[in-house]
Amino acid sequence: MTTLLVTGGAGFIGSNFIHLLRRERPEIRIVNVDVLTYAGNLENLKDVPLDDHYRFIRCDIADNQALKEAVDEKIDAVVHFAAESHVDRSIEDASAFLRTNVIGTQVMIDLARAWDVEKFVHVSTDEVYGSLGDEGLFTEETPISPNSPYSASKAASDLLVRAAVETHQFPGIITRCSNNYGPYQFPEKLIPLMISNATEDKPLPIYGDGMNVRDWIWVDDHCMGILLALEKGKPGHVYNLGGKSELTNMAVVKAILKSVDKPESLITFVTDRKGHDQRYAIDCSYAEKELGFDRSIDFEEGLKRTVDWYLENESWWQRIKTGAYLEYYDRHYGKDLSE
Ligand code: NAD
Ligand code: TYD
Repeated sequence: MTTLLVTGGAGFIGSNFIHLLRRERPEIRIVNVDVLTYAGNLENLKDVPLDDHYRFIRCDIADNQALKEAVDEKIDAVVHFAAESHVDRSIEDASAFLRTNVIGTQVMIDLARAWDVEKFVHVSTDEVYGSLGDEGLFTEETPISPNSPYSASKAASDLLVRAAVETHQFPGIITRCSNNYGPYQFPEKLIPLMISNATEDKPLPIYGDGMNVRDWIWVDDHCMGILLALEKGKPGHVYNLGGKSELTNMAVVKAILKSVDKPESLITFVTDRKGHDQRYAIDCSYAEKELGFDRSIDFEEGLKRTVDWYLENESWWQRIKTGAYLEYYDRHYGKDLSE
């Protein structure tokens, strides 16, 4: 049986990836390593039974010794999601971003080399390319030019993977994806924050003039791109993944208000994010050609599914807002191994 180690599997994209693997590749054994920061939520995986095909290990990826001891089995491949992921938090304090995103990635590379893995997919972001003007798209050849501590730490992690490929013939593959949305996204990110605030008739804070542009991808489409990179990607290669859905933040927020039938008067302009990247847009033709990657749904359909999910699962995000979700591990897994 193939054993795949997934880091950060209790987060937004990682948990969607585990659900996708259970559906698409039920024969794979998954070892999920996650330290459960504020962004890690095991309620995202409550339908995935702990059995021969799924194991959870609570561990910090930046702690080489602890991880080496905890993972006491043969690992065939790694998909590395674990990261600090919120730009605004990185502007407040970059230290956790450096520890997890940079040191944590080097630890994962070192352990993956010791496990002699066949593939290591490093899940990165289009934000490493910096910001675009009105024209053009990011290709895999676009120079790396990050503007936030978050994107700088992700760029550093990409370079560490690249260096391992060059130095050790490490089977590292890098994916760089645009902004994801869908179920289980922590309600500090634009789309779930706006859906939950609108539902509660709270103000919807738009940074600056709301004209910044993001390219939105349905999370399952990103997860499928990662699976394709794992199965068909070539070591040392970078694959851009995107949703071909460029929209201003204002357009996204207005679409959300329309779908939950709330007034635009809830929109509130607030101070702009420092160093706010103007526009991200991805050229994913290389992944289309080499991996057979494609998006399955457009933004209109994806937003409808997302809004429906947040409306049907209000208790999920309410438990995040009250902090109750943090108790899940202790209640279901017994002793807190991190103490
Ligand atoms: P997330 O913040 O929702 O989840 C991150 C997960 O990593 C959490 O479960 C957290 O507990 C875990 N984690 C954090 N520090 C850890 C540590 N030291 N040890 C072990 N686990 C740790 O993030 P996400 O949105 O799911 O993003 C996953 C990956 O995808 C990240 O690498 C991110 O850079 C990348 N990415 C995200 C997007 C997006 O739109 N969200 C787009 C492109 C790429
Ligand atoms: P975010 O979801 O934080 O993703 P990223 O910064 O990684 O692209 O933000 C998406 C866009 O929405 C970004 O341009 C910042 C903007 N934004 C707001 O206008 N208001 C908010 O409250 C948040 C969280 C984001």
